Amino acid sequence: MSLSFTVTERSDRLPDAEREAILADPGFGKRFTDHMVRATWTRDGGWHDAQVTAYGPFQLDPAAAVLHYAQEIFEGMKAYRHADGSVWTFRPEANAARWNRSAQRLALPGMEEADFIGALKALVEVDKAWVPDSTSGEASLYLRPFMFASEAFLGVRPAEEVTFSVIASPAGSYFTGGLKPVSLWISEHFSRAGKGGTGAAKCGGNYAASLAAQIEAAENGCDQSVFLDSLEQKYIEELGGMNVFLVHKDGRLVTPSLTGSILEGVTRSSILELAKDLDLEPEERKISLEEWRADAESGEITEAFACGTAAVVTPIGRLVSTQGEFRTGPEGEGGPVASKIRKALLDVQTGRAEDTRGWLTRLA
Ligand code: COI
Repeated sequence: MSLSFTVTERSDRLPDAEREAILADPGFGKRFTDHMVRATWTRDGGWHDAQVTAYGPFQLDPAAAVLHYAQEIFEGMKAYRHADGSVWTFRPEANAARWNRSAQRLALPGMEEADFIGALKALVEVDKAWVPDSTSGEASLYLRPFMFASEAFLGVRPAEEVTFSVIASPAGSYFTGGLKPVSLWISEHFSRAGKGGTGAAKCGGNYAASLAAQIEAAENGCDQSVFLDSLEQKYIEELGGMNVFLVHKDGRLVTPSLTGSILEGVTRSSILELAKDLDLEPEERKISLEEWRADAESGEITEAFACGTAAVVTPIGRLVSTQGEFRTGPEGEGGPVASKIRKALLDVQTGRAEDTRGWLTRLA
């Protein structure tokens, strides 16, 4: 680890009663803890000025390159409070590795895994009162590391000054309706990412590119949109903020293979590993929309679900397009396989089950 974080605690923390009221019903991404991490990178000086400081706005030059050319990446992780009060996170090495892959694709500086995890530890140590009790349910403290081109320069080239930060936000269920099947709009006009593009990187631009489809989804009464491959508009890719799994009646658990334009979700890869413990047979391959429709209609596919750090495992109820719609899973709380996988994952994350794979790292 090469960075050490200077800690300046604020004297005007949110009063305990107000914080507890937020933790009782956190929603997602609405409220933020008392502190944040900041660090700066310059071409000449590398990473420096690493600190934990009061949560607050950045002062940004209007010419900051991120505002013009979107040179930015982020990660999403969660901290869970276990029964003994200790605070843990899930597979941070996988996020650190993806962070560095994203950084490389966006021509941003890399960061040592130990510094990336050290930043999370430094923030959570100061704000540990903000980590909800995770011993029942799925409450957690969502951690959002991000970095952006803060150099004031309008030429198009990799920035020579970059700002790194981590903020944290108490989180309950990502979807406002709680755990109920979501409906998906099949985006025919918009692609999220193309061959050779940034689809496999966790960069803000990919999410911006998903928003017009999200508006179309909402206009058609759907919760999310599902993107098809940009070349043939035929194969399922992902939801923009979540990966997709289909459950076959013989126990096969199928997810689109990583094509370079799909984000490699940490939840996705964890489910592929957990599947074997749950008597499911994981399979990564191309899945056409037509196959999904035909197999859902024939009963060959019994369930479908979306997954991600924020959404955990969320059942998919129906798919809608200009061509009509079809059901792809039970109503109510979704199907038994999604709920079994969701439980297995949350049990490890929250300390309700033994962490046999060494997936947890203690933060505080
Ligand atoms: C996550 O699951 O952490 C995501 O990044 C999805 C979304 C909240 C952007």
